[in-house]
Amino acid sequence: MSRLIVVSNRVSVPKARGAAGSQGGLAVALGSALKERRGIWFGWSGKETDTFTGDLNMQKNEGVTTATIDLESQDVDEYYNGYANRTLWPLFHYRVDLAEYESGFGKGYERVNQRFADSLGPLIDPEDMVWVHDYHLMPLGSRLRERGNKNRIGFFLHIPWPPRNLLVALPFHERLVLTMLDYDLIGFQDEESVDSFLGYCRKELQAEVGEDGTVTYDGRTVKVAAFPIGLDYEEFLEGGTTGDARQMEQRMRSSSRHRKVIIGVDRLDYSKGLPERFDALGRFFDTYPDRVKQTLYVQIAPPSRQDVATYQRIRNTLEQKAGQINGERSEVDMVPIRYVNRGYSRQELFGIYRSAHVGLVTPLRDGMNLVAKEYVAAQDPEDPGVLVLSRFAGAAEQLTDALLINPHSMEEMSEAIREAIDMPLDERKARWEKLNEVIKTTNVEKWRADFVEALSA
Ligand code: ADP
Ligand code: G6P
Repeated sequence: MSRLIVVSNRVSVPKARGAAGSQGGLAVALGSALKERRGIWFGWSGKETDTFTGDLNMQKNEGVTTATIDLESQDVDEYYNGYANRTLWPLFHYRVDLAEYESGFGKGYERVNQRFADSLGPLIDPEDMVWVHDYHLMPLGSRLRERGNKNRIGFFLHIPWPPRNLLVALPFHERLVLTMLDYDLIGFQDEESVDSFLGYCRKELQAEVGEDGTVTYDGRTVKVAAFPIGLDYEEFLEGGTTGDARQMEQRMRSSSRHRKVIIGVDRLDYSKGLPERFDALGRFFDTYPDRVKQTLYVQIAPPSRQDVATYQRIRNTLEQKAGQINGERSEVDMVPIRYVNRGYSRQELFGIYRSAHVGLVTPLRDGMNLVAKEYVAAQDPEDPGVLVLSRFAGAAEQLTDALLINPHSMEEMSEAIREAIDMPLDERKARWEKLNEVIKTTNVEKWRADFVEALSA
């Protein structure tokens, strides 16, 4: 079996039991996928230094070998905070209005991708397979090819690929896409992204696009397909049997005092549709005033990318909205919203999800959204809660038995909340069984195996 080298900007080994934190879906999924396989996980250490040395820090942790490098402060500003999170992230989440273009960002992005290639190159043996992840590292395959790497190299994008007419708003979009054609395989979360990518190649590059999802350009052929990411289902369920999970479930139940609990768990990111969700809650309380005392909305939102101004603004907006909704509707002994800015362990999250009657997952755009899957997996099969899911999450292609909503419509969200709270047990069970089956069978192991098999083909 050839060795698998996984590369991503963020490297985070599954934390020891009980530890808290949120590193997003990529880290959670890759940590699980790599445990099953001999290999290396290469990426940024998360540390900043004055000058770049390229020194490798190798560690073995819970069966996963990690190799990390530090980056210069200027790299972090231009590549991570800049091009990745101020240019690509907003644009790829359909927020052209928030995307910023500065030539320094582009240069930093190129420089760091080159640095990754130069540090990683010597670690790669001829038989290894290389799997590059996410929008931070799109040109990495091309940089490795320039260094003479002939290995199978695949790329997976964890976020949506935007439609052609959005992508062309990115200066030098053609250059970026051309570098991607140096991979052997490109994977996306859903069919919509695959179609957008192929459409771009056909129309903007005049590439030859085959029925089977291959793109041929300048003598090279790359395969493009959807590989929806999943949960480490068994491990997540096992976490649910721990004392931490049970205690948390109990804490939630006793403190909500028989109110119906609605749960939201999201990184504090504007793509997650949180202000819209808070507004929909406000509308629900206004439309059904007698429900205020019978409902508790718990929003867990750990801060993310705090050096970026758009993230500081969304944080302020939510504090203001949560304050207003509570200020207008609280009693001395009751608040309708609990707004929490911290991380929890996966076991604790399990207990939180399980105690909630409704899981509210309403991103304006999302590559997949693992929270939606975790909420379903954590439910009691005999008395499951209801998932309300945005049709603009990649997960909506698979989770068609959720209550699918348009997160831009306050009315639709407010009605879905009411419907979810009032849903009879029979319907809840029937929907949950179908959702759970999909989540169980399309787990992280299948995602990894499908991608690796397609890459080695
Ligand atoms: P994204 O990758 O954009 O953050 P996902 O929903 O795909 O969105 O993945 C988020 C991951 O981060 C999930 O596995 C979720 O459990 C985890 N997470 C989110 N919030 C928290 C939190 N407060 N504490 C711990 N883990 C969290
Ligand atoms: C999303 C991205 C990941 C990223 C994660 C957390 O899941 O697809 O690449 O790691 O968010 O964001 P951060 O900037 O903290 O790594």
